[in-house]
Amino acid sequence: MKLSGITRHVDHLIVQWPDGSSSRFHYVWLRDNCRCNRCKHAIGERTVDVLSIPCDIAPTSVVVTDGLDLAWPDGHVTTYEAAWLRANSYEVDQRPAPHRPILWRKELAADLPEISYDDVMHSDAGLLAWLHLLRDYGLCFVRGVPTDPRTVVDVAGRISFLRNTNFGILFDVESKPDPDSLAYTSNRLNCHSDLPNREMPPGLQFLHCLVFEATGGDSILVDAFACADELRRVDPAAFELLTTTPIRYRYSGPDSELSARSPIIRVDADGELFEIRYSNALLAPLDAAPEKMIDTYRAIHSFAGLLQSSDFEIKTRLRAGDLMSFHNNRVLHGRDVFDPNSGHRHLQGCYVDLDDFLSRIRVLERLSGLSSA
Ligand code: OGA
Ligand code: ZN
Ligand code: ZN
Repeated sequence: MKLSGITRHVDHLIVQWPDGSSSRFHYVWLRDNCRCNRCKHAIGERTVDVLSIPCDIAPTSVVVTDGLDLAWPDGHVTTYEAAWLRANSYEVDQRPAPHRPILWRKELAADLPEISYDDVMHSDAGLLAWLHLLRDYGLCFVRGVPTDPRTVVDVAGRISFLRNTNFGILFDVESKPDPDSLAYTSNRLNCHSDLPNREMPPGLQFLHCLVFEATGGDSILVDAFACADELRRVDPAAFELLTTTPIRYRYSGPDSELSARSPIIRVDADGELFEIRYSNALLAPLDAAPEKMIDTYRAIHSFAGLLQSSDFEIKTRLRAGDLMSFHNNRVLHGRDVFDPNSGHRHLQGCYVDLDDFLSRIRVLERLSGLSSA
């Protein structure tokens, strides 16, 4: 990669690229991103203070080499390689395309994303394949997992350290005599995300089936991003309301009083979906403004109707040795009622935060040469 040329302007220069495209780089940006060892520590963190650079700074000279050499009024010199400038261009159409999820409906049931325990545990390529499926579909089954207790900790531990919560690092999902969650009964659980009652719900959830001899209890899964996308199309007012109205969730347990308020659907600055928080069981009394109360209920109905519709819902039955991994704030999960007198049903679960999952993907890609991130 080389520059074809530059033109200088008052507060920026324009780089021409061999393919005919061009990129603007502002002088303050070019000074601010100097990567010399006085401006950046060897560990990669910045040591130059943005406040020390006047917004109207301009170089005293600019020399085109294979890249660019710039001299600044205080004598400091900054050198850029062309490839680095190109990779960091902030022209809107030259930024790296963000990763987009593959949205799905019930048809995914015919070809569920899955991988074997051996692949995940014994090779980094297998691990990365698992994580890519999880990133793209928000869901992946790991098959052939030994049914020894705590194995879910080892499998999720391939990604990162685990997230602790009031239910512990490892939780047992079975019908218990003195349950502290509806999950620990034999009730039906409508599709939900776990722990929306926390400021930061866990990003990934893992449920490992150790024993399943009971009748009933089939799993329910739904891509809530696909439902939100559909809601945006068919009921834009409900979508708007659910992305802007904070809803409170709460959990009261023997040693916890947890409460958090957030819109049910969250979009980022580009309008892209990034988080769904939905659990009927954990909704606090709605506290929408009186004039918005009925509309808020209508919007929830509209979204929950899609979440529970047969167009979107997948039903599947776990077997001992299956481990279900999913993006907790995208793919909602639930289960049918089961009969605890017909046989035992025992799952173990744990969580990993999204940051550590995404970091693991980037590190594995870096190691395998897939990216220079
Ligand atoms: C849970 C849960 C589903 C199941 O533990 O959070 O939703 O299949 N369990 O028991
Ligand atoms: Zn420098
Ligand atoms: Zn759950």
